[in-house]
Parts: sequence; C-alpha cells; structure tokens
Amino acid sequence: MNLEDLKIPTHVSIIMDGNGRWAKKRGMPRTFGHKRGAEVVMDTCRESFKLGIKYLTIYAFSTENWNRPELEVRTLMTLFGRYLKICYDEAMENHMRVRVIGDRTGLSAELREQIRELEEASADFTEFHLQIAINYGSRDEMLRAMKRMMADCKNGKISPEELDGARFSSYLDTADIPDPDLMIRTSGELRLSNFLMWQHAYSEFYFTDTAWPDFNREELLKAIEAYTKRDRRYGRV
Ligand code: FPP
Repeated sequence: MNLEDLKIPTHVSIIMDGNGRWAKKRGMPRTFGHKRGAEVVMDTCRESFKLGIKYLTIYAFSTENWNRPELEVRTLMTLFGRYLKICYDEAMENHMRVRVIGDRTGLSAELREQIRELEEASADFTEFHLQIAINYGSRDEMLRAMKRMMADCKNGKISPEELDGARFSSYLDTADIPDPDLMIRTSGELRLSNFLMWQHAYSEFYFTDTAWPDFNREELLKAIEAYTKRDRRYGRV
C-alpha cells in the first residue's frame, strides 16, 4: 500500500511485549532486551511523529510489574530515568508534549521530580503527544478516578446525576487525551493486560509476533495498513 493511501490513526497505543524472550533467544539477560527496547521506543516515537500520528501511548511498566526480579525492576527504573532525560531534549526540539500516566506515588522521588519537570516544560506543546504509562494499571486508574469522583460528590462539586461517560473520562489519567484508534501489541500475546480498558472500548487491535526489540518503521506501517483496511462503520459499533 502506498504511503498516501494509508489512513493515519490520530492515537496509537502500544503494549511493548517480548523484551525478555528476545534477549533469552540471544543468550542474554532479560535486562538486555529492555535496553534494546528503550532504543526502539525512541525510534518509534520519531517515526510516529513523521507519519503524522498525533498521540502515542506506550505501556512501559504495569502495576503488576513490581513482582519481577529486583534487578529487572531496578534496571527498568534506571532506563526510565535515562529515557526521560533524552525525552526532555526531544520534547523541546520537536514541540512534543509528554505526560506520564499511572500512579506515580509508587515511584522514586527522583523519578517523580523528573516527570514533573518534563510535564511542566512541555505542557504547552501541541505538535505531538507522548504518554508513557509507568506503574499503570487500568483497574487502579479507574479506582483512583472513582475515589476522587466520590469525594467531589461528597463535597458538592458534582452530583451523581451529572455522571456520564465524558465526566468519568475527565477523572482518568488520560483526561483531555482522545481514545486510542489503534492498539498494537507485540510478541504474539493476545491480551489487553489491564491497559487502558475504558479508553480502548472502540479501538482497533493489531497483534504481531514480532518482539518489541525488533519493532521498526516497517512494522508500524504494517499495523497502520491493517488499520486502514478495517471497516470502521459509522457509529463505532
Ligand atoms: C515487556 O517485555 C516489556 C516490559 C515489561 C517493559 C517495557 C519496557 C521497555 C520497552 C523498555 C524501557 C521503556 C522506556 C519507556 C524507556 P517482557 O519483559 O514482558 O518480555 P517477555 O514477555 O518476553 O518476558
């Protein structure tokens, strides 16, 4: 399919799976896969921007990922810190707004400060929007939203009658961000894994056997081509 025939989704979300298996296949520790995976994140971000995608949301660390071996968790946290630094420069250069979704109270003070600085410095950019899900779980997000909403009901800010889909969305970490049009999961698993369950209600899903460290522009184009061919009927049912 020619590039000009592609229907470019406004918002792409990605479950970046398969780093561990990719590394194991090469006789390397799982952390080697995550390091390569982090480089692929940067490339994917640039390619998405070039293709005209407006929003990219990546699942970097789930609320369940704390159960992984300590060294792996530590390596991932170090990678996030390093990545956020690079991201800062890219955000300034390309006018990219960066937001982190998930429960950041579980993150180190240093990482939280880095996130705050990056979000604040990029808050007015509209060219491209990158959302990084760290310590994110959809159930956790909805429960946190529900707690704040109930507190607002209690203090009279809103009444239960006013509650509708839009109002609920506004309490989620993704408030103001349109729902994903296309969700990509790498490495052959066919699950949603607690990722944006409310927001993915009408998204198209694309699964590939390619492991995340092997994901590239060609793979992204394949996913967009599949999306282009899907019959998205009016009314989104
Ligand atoms: C899944 O692979 C991947 C993760 C749990 C973490 C995703 C992290 C990265 C891509 C690298 C760092 C990210 C940023 C934003 C800098 P897995 O370990 O579950 O692989 P497996 O299923 O083969 O074991």
